Order: sequence, then structure tokens, then C-alpha cells
Amino acid sequence: MIIRQSIGSVLRSLMAIALVAVLVLGSGLTARATTQQELDEITAQWQTSAHGLNDVNCASCHQNKETKEFIETPNHESCQSCHEQSVDTFLLSKHGIRLLEEKSPLTPAMARLPMKHEAMDQQMNCNACHNVHSANTVEASVDACLTCHNDNHSLNYQNSKHAELFADSKELPRPGAGAVSCATCHLPREVDDRLETPIVYVNHNNTYNLKPQDRMVGDVCMNCHGIEYSYNSIFDPELVEANFDRSPTLELQTFDLMKAAEERRTGNTSN
Ligand code: HEC
Ligand code: HEC
Ligand code: HEC
Ligand code: HEC
Ligand code: HEC
Ligand code: HEC
Repeated sequence: MIIRQSIGSVLRSLMAIALVAVLVLGSGLTARATTQQELDEITAQWQTSAHGLNDVNCASCHQNKETKEFIETPNHESCQSCHEQSVDTFLLSKHGIRLLEEKSPLTPAMARLPMKHEAMDQQMNCNACHNVHSANTVEASVDACLTCHNDNHSLNYQNSKHAELFADSKELPRPGAGAVSCATCHLPREVDDRLETPIVYVNHNNTYNLKPQDRMVGDVCMNCHGIEYSYNSIFDPELVEANFDRSPTLELQTFDLMKAAEERRTGNTSN
């Protein structure tokens, strides 16, 4: 057992060294050379990442499986074989749809919404949110979004109770279930129960629960808040713009009507 492990780690190191060699040699041909220091940093990040710990090597992403060709900057296709659900949902999103249509990647320069000036040419792909070598999902949940997004709603998140909850769980390797990050609302965790053993995955389609808005109420808010509180928050455009930094003040008439209709239908007036 010990021997197998050490052979495994020797092999892994050899693969890393081989890849490093290719990257160093290969980099002479490209505009942006990778320094030894950058390689050391990448290798260190990878070693303690979910990938490094699960035998996913440099070559798993940097080598074409069929042709064995070396890929200098892998794209979403390199993740597909292991993370089909992430790739599929990402490709259906506002973020990823251009890649599905085989157009150039989305960039903030194409946006209608306000974006960070210095990010205008940043191309959207898995690595726009994930540092692919550390695979850190905490950074991906808020900090990454704010490298591009610059509207009032996004910027005001930091003043919300939700942001406090997220800050409290930042020490965990994955955002805790009680935290509310940008991703909790926009890339929600969902359960795929079509499989025999249901799995929890992150729905990477950021458009999915925007319209109709009740979708976010049911799938996200109501995990923690009551229905009325949630509706009265989400249907108040000012509170949305303020990123829910205060309790709702709206008292939806339509909601009362809906509730009355529901009570008539079920004959239940208990609440
Ligand atoms: C989970 C997939 C994955 C693994 C594992 C992986 N890489 Fe990468 N790597 C990528 C992707 C994707 C990019 C492109 C990032 C970009 O364009 O910004 C990249 C880019 C790079 C670059 C270019 C510099 C940069 O950051 O843009 C170097 C050098 C590199 N990887 C080295 C390595 C080494 C060495 C290992 C193993 C220790 C490794 N990678 C493991 C996916 C991976
Ligand atoms: C050879 C299979 C393989 C490839 C290729 C691969 N991954 Fe992974 N990935 C894994 C495994 C195994 C885990 C850890 C177990 C798990 O969480 O499912 C993981 C976990 C992750 C996580 C979660 C990390 C955490 O802390 O929970 C992210 C994010 C991730 N991968 C992103 C990517 C991206 C982006 C790519 C492509 C650039 C990629 N992976 C390519 C196998 C792979
Ligand atoms: C590389 C830059 C970039 C990053 C990183 C990024 N986005 Fe975006 N996002 C965009 C662009 C560009 C658009 C399109 C905006 C437009 O068309 O006006 C967009 C659109 C959106 C939309 C609106 C979708 C719609 O249909 O109106 C949401 C919601 C969103 N992003 C959430 C997020 C969240 C949450 C994160 C982090 C987990 C994130 N984004 C990370 C660039 C980015
Ligand atoms: C807009 C930002 C963003 C983009 C783009 C993005 N991710 Fe993620 N991803 C996240 C966040 C945030 C989480 C963690 C959310 C959570 O756990 O609450 C995550 C979680 C994951 C996980 C672990 C959870 C799971 O479903 O297994 C994997 C794997 C993953 N992403 C792969 C990918 C791949 C592959 C791509 C490209 C096709 C990609 N991601 C593109 C933000 C992003
Ligand atoms: C508690 C849930 C929640 C959190 C947290 C949250 N949002 Fe939103 N976001 C919403 C709702 C609700 C909307 C409005 C959807 C609509 O009106 O169609 C929205 C809209 C958006 C839009 C689209 C705006 C438009 O006009 O199309 C973007 C972009 C966005 N959010 C990004 C972010 C980012 C980035 C963060 C974190 C910094 C974040 N959101 C945090 C719930 C949330
Ligand atoms: C993971 C649980 C969770 C989710 C999901 C969640 N929230 Fe919250 N939310 C909280 C907690 C906890 C507080 C803080 C309550 C307190 O301190 O009184 C809070 C506070 C709020 C506040 C009041 C902020 C204040 O300063 O008083 C509003 C409004 C709100 N949430 C709306 C929403 C909406 C709308 C959604 C869905 C789009 C949502 N929340 C999703 C847990 C959650």
C-alpha cells in the first residue's frame, strides 16, 4: 500500500516535471512566457487542491486525450469528461452561450450592464471564475464576480447580512450551507435525483432563475425565509438594487390575492 502510494506520487511528480519542461520549452514560441516562479506557484496551488488530492494531474487538463497533443491554455472542453453537468449548464447560461454557438467568448466589453473598466477584455470561460489550479470555490463565489460586475446591486452585496454570513464561512474549503454568496442566488446548488444516488451539483446557468423571478424564490430564498418575506423582497426593485441590505417593506397586494386564491382552492385558512 505504502509502496503503491509512493510510486503513484513519484509518477505524479514525473508527469508534473515533464509538463513543466514542455511548458518552459513551449513558452519560447508564445507571446507570454511562463517564468519558473509562476510554475512553482501553479504547482504548489495544484498540490493542495481538490484535483491534486484526487489524482487529477497536469496532463488531465493539459493533454488532448486522443491526439496526446499538449494544450497550453485548456478551455472548458478539458473539464467536460469529469464535470459534464458544470459544462452543460455553463454553456446554456448568459456567460457561456456564445461558446455553445461557437462564437468568440463573452467579454465585459459586450455587456449592457455596468462592468469594471479594467476587465473589458477578460474572456469568459471556467477560469474566469475558478483559479483552475487551486480550484477554490470560495473565491469563485464573490470575488471573481466582482472582477467584472460593477452595477449597484453587485457592489452593494458587501453591505448585506448575506455578505456577513458568507464572511463567517470563508475559512471552509467550500462556502457553508448557511452562507449566501452571489453564487447561492445565481449559481444555486441543486439536487439531481434522476440518478440512483442523488448528487448535489452547482447549476452554472446564471440565467435560469432570473425569469420568472418566482423561480429564485422557490429554489433559493425559501430554503431560509418564508414565502411572504421572499416575495416582498424580490418584487421590490429598490431592495434588489440594494442587494437586500434591509428588511422588506413592501406588502404585496397580488401576494395577498394569491394567498386568498390558494386558501379558497385548498380550503385551508390556517395561515
Ligand atoms: C483542472 C485542470 C488543470 C490542471 C489539473 C492543471 N492545469 Fe494548468 N491550466 C489549466 C487551464 C484551464 C489553463 C488556462 C488558464 C488561462 O487561460 O488563464 C491553464 C494554464 C496553465 C499555464 C499557463 C499560465 C497561466 O496561468 O495562464 C501553466 C504554466 C500551467 N497551466 C501549468 C500547469 C501545471 C504545471 C500543472 C500541474 C502541476 C497544471 N497546469 C495543472 C488547467 C489545468
Ligand atoms: C480527470 C478528471 C477531472 C478533470 C479533467 C477536471 N476535474 Fe475538476 N475535479 C475532479 C475531481 C475528482 C474533483 C474532486 C471531487 C469532486 O469534488 O467531485 C474535482 C473538483 C473540482 C472543483 C471543486 C473543488 C472543491 O473544492 O470542491 C472544481 C471547481 C473543479 N473541479 C473545476 C474543474 C475545472 C474548471 C476543470 C477544467 C479546467 C476541471 N475541474 C477538470 C476531476 C476533474
Ligand atoms: C469575465 C467577467 C465576468 C465574471 C467573472 C462574471 N460575470 Fe456575470 N456576466 C458577465 C457579462 C459580460 C455578462 C453579460 C451582461 C450583459 O449582457 O449586460 C454577465 C451576466 C451576468 C448575469 C445576468 C444574466 C442575464 O441574463 O441578465 C448574472 C446574474 C451574472 N452575470 C452573475 C454573475 C455571478 C454571480 C458571477 C460570479 C459567480 C459572475 N457573473 C461572474 C461577465 C462576468
Ligand atoms: C460565473 C462563475 C463561474 C464560472 C464561469 C464557472 N464556475 Fe464552477 N463554480 C462557481 C462557483 C461560485 C462554485 C461554487 C458554488 C457553491 O458551492 O456554492 C462552482 C462550483 C464548481 C464545481 C464544484 C461543484 C459541482 O457542481 O461539482 C465544479 C466541478 C465546477 N464549478 C466546474 C466548472 C466548470 C467545468 C466550468 C466551466 C464549464 C465552471 N465551473 C465555470 C463559479 C463558476
Ligand atoms: C439573495 C440573492 C442574491 C444575491 C446574494 C445576489 N443577487 Fe444578483 N440578483 C438577485 C435578484 C433577485 C436579481 C434580479 C433579477 C431580475 O430582476 O430579473 C439579481 C440580478 C443580478 C444581475 C442582473 C441585473 C440585470 O439588470 O439584469 C446581476 C449581474 C447580478 N444580480 C449579479 C450579482 C453579483 C455579482 C452578486 C454578488 C456580488 C449578486 N448578484 C448577489 C439576487 C441576488
Ligand atoms: C442560506 C440561507 C439564506 C438564503 C438562501 C437567503 N437568505 Fe436572506 N437572510 C438569511 C439570514 C440568516 C439573514 C439575516 C437575518 C437576520 O439577521 O435577521 C438574511 C437576511 C435577509 C434580508 C434582510 C436583510 C437585513 O438587513 O435585515 C432580506 C431582505 C433577505 N435576506 C432576502 C433574501 C432573498 C430575497 C433571498 C433569495 C433571493 C434570500 N434572502 C436568500 C439567510 C438566507
